[in-house]
Amino acid sequence: MTAALPRRRVLIGASAAVAVLSVGGIATGGGAPKPLPPAPNPRAPGVPARRPGRRPRPVRLLGRDRPASPLWTYGDDPLTVIRVRRGDTLEARLENRLPEHTSIHWHGIRLPNPMDGVPYMTQPPVEPGGSFEYRFALPDTGTFFFHPHCNTVEQVGRGLAGVLIVEGDETVPYGADVLCLLKDWRLDEATGGFLDFLTDAGAARNGTFGTVRSTGFGPAPTVRMPAGRDVRVRILNLDVTRVSQVGVVGAEAAVIATDGNAVAPFPLEAWRMGPAMRLDVVVRAPAPGATARVVDYFSKDIVTLMTLVGDGTAPDRPTAFDPAPLYAPALPEPDLRRAEILAFDFGSTAGDLTVAAPNGEVIDLGLSLCLAPGTFWAINRQSWPERGHEYPPAPLAELALGRSYVFELRNLTPHMHPIHLHGHSFKVLDSNKVDRPVHWADTALLTPKERMRVAFVADNPGSWMFHCHIIEHQDTGMMGYVTVA
Ligand code: C2O
Ligand code: CU
Repeated sequence: MTAALPRRRVLIGASAAVAVLSVGGIATGGGAPKPLPPAPNPRAPGVPARRPGRRPRPVRLLGRDRPASPLWTYGDDPLTVIRVRRGDTLEARLENRLPEHTSIHWHGIRLPNPMDGVPYMTQPPVEPGGSFEYRFALPDTGTFFFHPHCNTVEQVGRGLAGVLIVEGDETVPYGADVLCLLKDWRLDEATGGFLDFLTDAGAARNGTFGTVRSTGFGPAPTVRMPAGRDVRVRILNLDVTRVSQVGVVGAEAAVIATDGNAVAPFPLEAWRMGPAMRLDVVVRAPAPGATARVVDYFSKDIVTLMTLVGDGTAPDRPTAFDPAPLYAPALPEPDLRRAEILAFDFGSTAGDLTVAAPNGEVIDLGLSLCLAPGTFWAINRQSWPERGHEYPPAPLAELALGRSYVFELRNLTPHMHPIHLHGHSFKVLDSNKVDRPVHWADTALLTPKERMRVAFVADNPGSWMFHCHIIEHQDTGMMGYVTVA
């Protein structure tokens, strides 16, 4: 059954890149999974369209009376946040006003391959002045984001990252729903301009760190929360480099979702998040006037990401902290007994970087295609420079449509690598080093020398990128793809 419903039209205008969005109320059909309630009507008409500008958008990341930084953005606001409902169809028109080509990858969304936003692999690059229409249904609820997929370290480094929230997973409403988005910036203190985004020294090790931290593209905010109520905090690590370890100080907190997928709630002690990872947390908001903090433990001094202040009056009869789970994700369950096991070694560069172009010419990826200054990393001894999309090497694996797989991810290096697979969510099963509850994810953090097993059903046909999300590692070789057919 398909219901014709009114459409919501929003322009996420932009100084540099432009996406015109409209969210159609195309309801989910009969295939909607049982545990989830039906998608309600889309909300009232949104923001009217505005004419986007061409110049970078000045944003004061260094402080109120300091020079502004020239951001590239997806909209009139520095940070674009799109909220839709599961079952909605997202229509986004990207109009490129950047001086270089771009595209939008919708990270974590199980969408059809031609909408995946990988230049050359799934669509032609959107050249300056050009445009591209994205249109896909949103099969899953959760906290997602979107970003470019070429020259990524610079384009994301300049600000191109947006949040996509797909609502409809709450079994009981929370008292608030806020974003806590981490991102660092590489800024020249004197001018506000950007420093080099990629350095050889960084790319070959843990990545090049930002010089200024931010939460939601600004200083760590203080947010008023209904005192004593359970509130939802969606934590996103959208930095290109930083691994954080998040926790909550001064209040009880529980994890309710990983990469947007519900888990049975468990107490949040500290959860390590590599770039691209998301964590949904329920926090019992503090008493009136009291504070709690969302923090990052993974640096020399504990860093406050957000302060929560109890507001209003606390409930008369407080209950024990026991947050209700979200609706279970509607993901295909891998058959572990019949799954094929494939090993992937994440290591540093070794061996041959040549591929055959369609005309038979042999091309050295290390020289001709890649503008990255060096190649440092590899998956299964195969390196792929970021800008080498034009002549993709052979896939890392060819998967059979509908079959279950266990990927054994083996980190041969002394560095951390958050590993992301496009177009699918996988179940993180176990590890030789880190004790985590079994959970669904689209990005999994491999700690040094760790071996981790993840499982999924290869149910989405196409060519899907598989890479480290420390973007300098991705840009200097730690990327490949798998095919599903
Ligand atoms: Cu968020 Cu291929 O990446
Ligand atoms: Cu890496």
